[in-house]
Amino acid sequence: MSLLIKNGRIITSVDDYYADIFIEDETIDVIGRNLEMEADRVLDAKGYLVIPGGIDPHTHLDMPFGGTVSADDFETGTKAAAHGGTTTLIDFAIQTKGHSTLEALDTWHAKAEGKTAIDYGFHMILTDLEDNRINEMRMLADEGITSYKLFMAYPGVLYVDDGTIYRAMRKAGEDGTVICMHAENGIVIDEIVKEAVKKGQTAPKYHSLTRPTQMEAEGVHRAISIADVANVPVYIVHLSSADALEQVVLARDKGKAVFAETCPQYLFLDYSYYEKEDFEGAKYVMTPALREKWNQKELWRGLQFGDLQSISTDHCPFCFKEQKELGRTDFSQIPNGAPGVENRMSLVYNGGVVAGRISVNKFVDLTSTSAAKIFGLFPKKGTIAIGSDADIVLFNPDRKETISVNNTCTHHMNVDYNTYEGFEVQGISETVISRGKVIVDNCEYKGKKGDGKYVKRSLYNEYYPIGHPIKSDRP
Ligand code: URP
Ligand code: ZN
Ligand code: ZN
Repeated sequence: MSLLIKNGRIITSVDDYYADIFIEDETIDVIGRNLEMEADRVLDAKGYLVIPGGIDPHTHLDMPFGGTVSADDFETGTKAAAHGGTTTLIDFAIQTKGHSTLEALDTWHAKAEGKTAIDYGFHMILTDLEDNRINEMRMLADEGITSYKLFMAYPGVLYVDDGTIYRAMRKAGEDGTVICMHAENGIVIDEIVKEAVKKGQTAPKYHSLTRPTQMEAEGVHRAISIADVANVPVYIVHLSSADALEQVVLARDKGKAVFAETCPQYLFLDYSYYEKEDFEGAKYVMTPALREKWNQKELWRGLQFGDLQSISTDHCPFCFKEQKELGRTDFSQIPNGAPGVENRMSLVYNGGVVAGRISVNKFVDLTSTSAAKIFGLFPKKGTIAIGSDADIVLFNPDRKETISVNNTCTHHMNVDYNTYEGFEVQGISETVISRGKVIVDNCEYKGKKGDGKYVKRSLYNEYYPIGHPIKSDRP
């Protein structure tokens, strides 16, 4: 099968030019002006931005959590991601305490294999690390699991203590892999939560009021310090506040291999959403919590100046009616997480490029290239280059849509609300190509279950020797 994309404006994280792209089977074969090649199908990309497929390095599909299971599985979640212009995601396999990580990997392979619309990889969540299992980490790397997520939050569930963090970091560093950290002091937060519930402060807004930004900043500082001693690159996930960002900036200024992502919810939503009536605030109960609005400006600065490298979604949907309901009388029982995988590209383009905050190149970097480099997918993914996987989006930079659970152009996620309900966005992923196959054609899904494949990721720095730049672009 061959495909010729004509007349497009190709944008990568560094280039912006007009050319045609010839795709043979799954990869990009030729890039050039006025290509006259025979192809099974020709797409006219005039007026479109031709960008690398989005990479979302943080999703939770089919995840048991908060007394329930996230509402999107690997079929529905990846199909929704495809509609939104994302062609690769990295989800999380979860090791069960006392059990092998390899067992966890098998479990997550079984959840995903044959079901996905797009390519996928896994980070491994470690919930403990007995000495006799530490060597599994090397085996995981051989299986293409080249990053871990550790939790300083959620005591009694996913939390690991500092000793475990240190041991995991040492081994991850030795193996050439990366540690992702949920950096929040869960031990202190749990005490604050108990105090609040005891006082009868049970409404959704107390989820935010019991998770001060200082506890996120402390977690970030501790994660960075332990990683420094253990000699491993650390990637702070879902960074939400200016306080936390300050810690990342300090470390990067010292040349430490510290990276961080933020998410659309922290760029576009704020604390006031928790004050919605009729328990609606529960829709926004996620961890870290939404912050006061002024933090958003600081996060955008972090993105503009390269202190934050990536925008993921932390997509972890729970239905309002049946699942968020679990915490109707006590906010601490509301399953933590919100949907977003489908709307990321449009939100970032609209709030970033259209709003004049970032360039189109930065848009591509933040939604695709950077994650590919940090997580061992580059240059197979994350760019448009000869030999790379033909994961390409024809992005209409002019089309406007109002995001809504009822808009068939913006919502295919298996959840009964949209976190960004009513947001008007300019910029829509209209045609999406995954390894040479058109899976979304002018907003219509044309793929099938099982089109996506597991991607073995390479080690940090294996194909990208300088790693991701640590130098800031701050003046
Ligand atoms: O609220 C969230 N973020 N739920 C998913 C689990 C996590 O901490 O990433
Ligand atoms: Zn987390
Ligand atoms: Zn998460």
